[in-house]
Amino acid sequence: MRRAVRFILDGRERSVSDLDPTTTVLQWLRGSEGRFGTKEGCAEGDCGACTVVLGELRSGEVRLRAVNACLLLLPALDGKALFTVESLARKGVLHPVQRALVECHGSQCGFCTPGFVMSIFAFYESEREAPTRRRIDEVLSGNLCRCTGYRPIVEAVRAAYLLGRREGEDARGALAKALRGLSGEEELDLSYGGKRYLAPRSLDALASFLEDHPGAHVVAGATDLGLLLTKEHRDLELVVSVGSVPELCAIRETESHLEIGAAVTYTDALEPLAALEPTLGELVRRIGSTQIRNVATVCGNLANASPVGDMAPALLALEASVVLRRGKRRRELPLSSFFQGYRRTAREPGELLEQVRIPRAAAHRLFRVYKVSKRFDQDISSVCGAFAVEVDGGRIRAARVAFGGMAAVPLRALSAEAALVGRPLGEGAALAAAAALTAELSPLSDMRASAGYRRLVAGNLLRRFVHEAAGSPGQSRVLAEGSA
Ligand SMILES: Cc1cc2nc3c(=O)[nH]c(=O)nc-3n(C[C@H](O)[C@H](O)[C@H](O)COP(=O)(O)OP(=O)(O)OC[C@H]3O[C@@H](n4cnc5c(N)ncnc54)[C@H](O)[C@@H]3O)c2cc1C
Ligand code: FES
Ligand code: FES
Repeated sequence: MRRAVRFILDGRERSVSDLDPTTTVLQWLRGSEGRFGTKEGCAEGDCGACTVVLGELRSGEVRLRAVNACLLLLPALDGKALFTVESLARKGVLHPVQRALVECHGSQCGFCTPGFVMSIFAFYESEREAPTRRRIDEVLSGNLCRCTGYRPIVEAVRAAYLLGRREGEDARGALAKALRGLSGEEELDLSYGGKRYLAPRSLDALASFLEDHPGAHVVAGATDLGLLLTKEHRDLELVVSVGSVPELCAIRETESHLEIGAAVTYTDALEPLAALEPTLGELVRRIGSTQIRNVATVCGNLANASPVGDMAPALLALEASVVLRRGKRRRELPLSSFFQGYRRTAREPGELLEQVRIPRAAAHRLFRVYKVSKRFDQDISSVCGAFAVEVDGGRIRAARVAFGGMAAVPLRALSAEAALVGRPLGEGAALAAAAALTAELSPLSDMRASAGYRRLVAGNLLRRFVHEAAGSPGQSRVLAEGSA
């Protein structure tokens, strides 16, 4: 049992124990450490002013990723290295990324600048090839700047690659050694001021702890749970993390399924999901921002049962299932039975969502998922539609149509499915199903979209799917498929 969080900051090992374990990294940096370079803008993962970089060992190599410090709980630093904007300049010599931002006039007020520096730093230190414009947009998708405009910042990313690396730049060997020094078998168990945070290191220990403490808050990436702290100012007395359990960090590819463990982030799941279904990869690239995807999990997206969660419709159309575990007992449920009401699931007290299982392509399965939101990046869906059909001899043999943003829960549109089945794959089927959909769904009007807009978009997405699945001529996308 370890009673302190241990991590590396500026090359030195740090150990923090006497602190509320639900303190965020941002609160700690600014409140306890006086490191004011990292800013607080929104405290909800949207603006990127709080971006810091985490280093961790993966297969023996140091991997760097940008994250939002405002939502990250301090214990999540355990075993990792933390870089803030103060970590970069050495003896007054700026990091190439900082120099490039200065030289390209990439900053005016400076509130957002530390966040930009850190997002670009993580990227520059991880990818050696000069980036494409699309890649730069992805890297900057979680950072807002209201005054400079993005052109000089985009130019600075390109310029950093031309500046050359600093002398003695590669300190990875020393960092890897320091990180190896932190690894151990003891589980982290922090208690302070009536609050407790536990990070079991085995699945059995985690499941048994949850069975004994059904009121504990499970935490994965904390991109949702963190809002309870920063926005609702709630006291979370008992928090148990899935992040230190190796089995839950794994993605398994079996002959029949892709299995994604509870601690797998979107960033790690992206490639296997894109390999399974290319538009699933396009969807994941548009969830939140780079910083969010680097910590948020696929299973967290299902466990929170948000009516506008993006993974749910896609996984409903793919007939995925979830594995729930309480103590030693496991049960597997189709995702369609998992969502039970507004933010309510079939998960019982003391149960853990252990993994999601996605069936591999059935023969003749055609699948697409489309996200419609006001912005391309870093935006919640107004409507997310996912469609799968199996076609035999030109006729639709089976159909699954699922939506997010159209009801209190992500759901399958059964009458639209029935309208598709048996019809030839073409415009007639699309129109019949779109009409059924209009009668079946009664979405809400809210600040994202009106009910009328949502209904219209849902029908049009269905028509677009049939159009694309049938290979009809004519353009259905602004960007070529696979480039989004
Ligand atoms: C800025 C921002 C942008 C976002 N953009 C999008 C978006 O574009 N699309 C989208 O769908 N969502 C989006 N989200 C919502 C959210 O981040 C995601 O749904 C995310 O996948 C949640 O995963 P997490 O690991 O962070 O979950 P956490 O916050 O750790 O947990 C979420 C909830 O699920 C529970 N939980 C987590 N894991 C388990 C488990 N294994 N067993 C039981 N319960 C569990 C937690 O107790 C908590 O109630 C965004 C969030 C933010 C802050
Ligand atoms: S303060 Fe805005 S993303 Fe963290
Ligand atoms: S320079 Fe970024 S918000 Fe002003």
